[in-house]
Order: sequence, then structure tokens, then C-alpha cells
Amino acid sequence: MTILDGKKTSNDIKNEIKAEVDKMKANGEKVPHLAAVIVGNDGASLTYVGSKVRACERIGFESTLIKMSSTTSEIELLDKIEDLNNNDDIDGFIVQLPLPPQIDTQKVLLAVDPDKDVDGFHPTNFGKMALDMSTFIPATPFGILELMERYQVDTAGKHTVVIGRSHIVGRPMSILMGRKGFPGNSTVTLTHSHTKNITQITSQADIIITALGVPGFLKAEMVKDDAVIIDVGITRVPDETRERGYYITGDVDFEEVSKKASFITPVPGGVGPMTIAMLLKNTLLARERHRA
Ligand code: GUN
Repeated sequence: MTILDGKKTSNDIKNEIKAEVDKMKANGEKVPHLAAVIVGNDGASLTYVGSKVRACERIGFESTLIKMSSTTSEIELLDKIEDLNNNDDIDGFIVQLPLPPQIDTQKVLLAVDPDKDVDGFHPTNFGKMALDMSTFIPATPFGILELMERYQVDTAGKHTVVIGRSHIVGRPMSILMGRKGFPGNSTVTLTHSHTKNITQITSQADIIITALGVPGFLKAEMVKDDAVIIDVGITRVPDETRERGYYITGDVDFEEVSKKASFITPVPGGVGPMTIAMLLKNTLLARERHRA
């Protein structure tokens, strides 16, 4: 069994990006600039956005964090997005999800300039991805592909089962794994809350990608021997005995499932850090495109 080490791999990627940034600096060029907008005070979202901004600083990107109150109106947020679209100094930006209920998420995602949409959530970019055109691939699926590539996980002709159909992970993942090329060429089954007999489906899978947010959902009896297990679940479980008052756990019963798996991602230290590294990669790509 091989652990797909997202912490180490993401550090390798960040070092590669930093080397590019150092070259830009040495040539007197502008470095990539990422902006992140967060609306409200959700603890997990604030942590994620904070990690993204800190990662920018460490590799030499410029970054801007825009915090807006939980009572922000849709118009106020759309105005902020318009500013970011028109600000030539900003190469890419993200609006952290989820948004408060008074704001229509789809309207917000549509307002982002596709050339600055480093999350890859705009319909134009999502469509390009589905059509194999060059675009920004959403960071979490992109990170999973990169992990598979760097560990040479064989995906061709394999049965990949994706659990969860979110726009951020499950849906794009199901498209990407079925694309031509590597990693891809998989036969894909996309499962969700209406799927019947899920154990029958997962137990036939060569590769399982689970993005549900239900701790310990994937048990050993749902997995065949030598399966590849990618755990995208990140749940905070309250625990007073921990310093932070919670611990982080994934969708997979790691202890038992890891005994059967050929490759498996841990939580934490698997897919999570890869997401940040690939957001930085997309921002570098945005800078290079704007320069071209
Ligand atoms: N919320 C959870 N994951 C993501 C992500 O990748 N991007 C944004 N913008 N919000 C998220």
C-alpha cells in the first residue's frame, strides 16, 4: 500500500512554482497576484482562505484578502467582483464558497471574468474543461489528477467510482477521469444521494473518489482488494480534548480501508494541500496568459 502524500507533493509543486516566480523577479517582471474574497465568518472557510493567502506569500506571489461581512448584499459583492475584473494588477481571484443565503451563488460565479477565474467555476471554463479545451481546471480535481500523475496511478480502462456530484469536486472529477489521456481513459460511474445499492457499485471500483463530507462513510466491505482510494472529505469533528477544539477527518475509514488499498490519500495531508498548490498553479497560468 502506498500513501499518496499530498503534503509532500504539494510542497514539491510549490517549490517548482517558487522557482518560476524567482525567475520572474530576476527578470524584473510582475509576479502573479491572487485575490480572495470571503463573505461572512464561517470558521472553516476563513481557515481555508487564510491558508491560500499564506501559501501565496511563501512562494512570492502577491495576494489580497478581501473580507466582507455576513450581511453583504448581492449587489455589493457583484460590485467588488467588477472591481477585481477591471483591476489589471490582479491576475486571478476566487470567491470562497459557500456564500450567505441572501446571495445567489450562480449569479456571482457568472460575474467573474473567465480569464481571472482561477477556481475554474465559470460556465465558460467548466464547458471548456468538458470539451478538452485549455482552461482553468478546478483546484481540487486538478490536485487529484496531479497526485495520480506523480505517483503513476494507472487509470486507463479502470472503473472509477465518484461519490458526490458537487460542482466543485464530484461533477468535474467525473468528467476529467473519463477524458482522453492520462490521468483519464477511465470508465466512470458518478454516484450521489439517490444512488441505490452503492456498496454493489463501490465494490466493483478500481478507483474510488469520495467527496461527501460524511466521516467514515467508506468502509472496508465497500472496497475491493487493491483499489485506489481518494478521500476528498474534510469534516471538523468537535473534540474538547484537542487544542483547537476539533479534529479533521475524511469520508474513509482509513484504518480498515488502507489494509485493502493499493494507493490511498490520508486526511489530513492528502487532497487538501493539493487544492492549494493547484490554485497557485492556476494563478501562475493566469499571469502567463495575461503576459502573452
Ligand atoms: N469552498 C470549498 N472548496 C472551495 C474551492 O475550491 N474554491 C472556493 N472558492 N470555495 C470553496
